[in-house]
Amino acid sequence: MKDQIEALLKEVAQVQLSGPDEVESFRVSFLGRKGKMKDLMAAFKEVPGEEKRELGPMLNGLKQAVEAKVKEAQQSTRTAAQASGLDATRPSGGVPVGTHHPLQVVRREIVEIFQNMGFAVAEGPEVEDDWHVFSGLNFPPEHPARDMQDTFFVERDPDVLLRTHTSSVQVREMEKREPPMRLIMPGRVFRNEAISARAHCMFHQIEGLYIDKDVSFADLKQTLLHFARCFFGPDTDIRLRPSYFPFTEPSAEVDVYWGLKTEVDKRITKGTGWLEILGCGMVDPNVLEANGIDSKVYSGYAFGMGIERITMLRYQIGDLRHFFENDVRFLDQFAGER
Ligand code: PHE
Repeated sequence: MKDQIEALLKEVAQVQLSGPDEVESFRVSFLGRKGKMKDLMAAFKEVPGEEKRELGPMLNGLKQAVEAKVKEAQQSTRTAAQASGLDATRPSGGVPVGTHHPLQVVRREIVEIFQNMGFAVAEGPEVEDDWHVFSGLNFPPEHPARDMQDTFFVERDPDVLLRTHTSSVQVREMEKREPPMRLIMPGRVFRNEAISARAHCMFHQIEGLYIDKDVSFADLKQTLLHFARCFFGPDTDIRLRPSYFPFTEPSAEVDVYWGLKTEVDKRITKGTGWLEILGCGMVDPNVLEANGIDSKVYSGYAFGMGIERITMLRYQIGDLRHFFENDVRFLDQFAGER
């Protein structure tokens, strides 16, 4: 037995252990439930008393040598792992989370400004019928906006189409509600346009509608000026240019003075510094009547605002297509935006 212990001591002193697997199987072969130490301890019980006195300390010495070897080998494999840049004790990184889309950020800001003025939010469907997109808004049957070249129709049915503007939600809400009503209606719209840096076949609008007794064009203008100053800054100027829409009379387009500091400013404002942000006007009496509202008692104003161009100027985005490609390298830049 003495020889056996000495041979094992030598083996322990000489063995080379590389890697955590080797260290572990070495440990088990000596200290495990079926290991060599167990066998030796069993044999030890059988030896006569005076031999025990010599063999006991030897056995202890062997056990300690094995334990020391294991500890040393474990430490050196750990240092090797650290040297290779791997640290198994390091806490894992945070869970990656998404970011708000810039269009969503701007949309929310615009909606909040109108909510603060007492407007309630309403939404309608993207797949619509002719009545809500055109006929209910006083579009004559031959109006070019109904043309196949502008409107996407679903399954060749002329009465199932993608809305070309959020004004359709005006019609849906006039059907549902009694005046007075003061609504802000954000949504996505679709037009069959060639995709480029400046145009896309889908984009986003925010519609506004206010119907009550004695609503005037002055109310409309002041509301829009207040909005522009909240959103673009307190010194912002707006200008109204006469325009035409079938569903408003009189109608206007509204520009905001943005300035010409950068290339993107020049491109988006077409070199003028003025940004056209919306179309608006007094709701045409025909539209009120078509939707069951007495135009002798009530009047109203409406406006429809595009979100994309405002967002492009705010964040200096030179190409509209970025909004819809959802490349994370683009989206990551809006981390921290609310
Ligand atoms: N619907 C119009 C457009 O898409 C905008 C508009 C809305 C104009 C409401 C007047 C009133 O261009």
